[in-house]
Amino acid sequence: MLMQAQRESYETKDVKSDISITNERRALIDGLNRDLAGEYQAVLMYTHYSAKLTGPYRRELRALFQAEIADEQGHAQFLADKIAALGGEPSTKPREVPNADHAKQMLQHALTTEKQAIADYVERIAEAEAFGDIGLKVSLENMVADETRHKEEIERILADGWDDFSFKQAQEEDRWKDEGGQG
Ligand SMILES: [Fe+2]
Ligand SMILES: [Fe+2]
Repeated sequence: MLMQAQRESYETKDVKSDISITNERRALIDGLNRDLAGEYQAVLMYTHYSAKLTGPYRRELRALFQAEIADEQGHAQFLADKIAALGGEPSTKPREVPNADHAKQMLQHALTTEKQAIADYVERIAEAEAFGDIGLKVSLENMVADETRHKEEIERILADGWDDFSFKQAQEEDRWKDEGGQG
């Protein structure tokens, strides 16, 4: 009976010390929250761009964007769960979605976002390893693999077959608007 009481007090102490927020843990939680804001941005971005897509590539790009929404949503859920498990408060604020009115512009923004996610996760993997959370490190590595697949697919689409005229024309229109012209 006494042994059980002792064990319980030990367990309580261990659990308490586990959720106390050290500086290292705080830094990891903050980093994961920045990553979460990036994943929410990606969910919004692909949803928003799916709706706005026009032109001859609409059907293919919409299918691609819709598939990516599911991946990014899975990443967001994982990060929110992990932040809560570490004793943090998961963010509900996405990074801002850059405006795009043309398919190629959307793809270029998406490529930038995917590259950013890869760079962020590479940084977070090192922090997770230093923190001693190998499970988190492995999960983040799998997410890097997903983002790399997204990035390469977009790079392949951007590589060839585009009629640059419509994009250049759009840039000209944007410049004209920036200089005070009417849209
Ligand atoms: Fe993602
Ligand atoms: Fe992605």
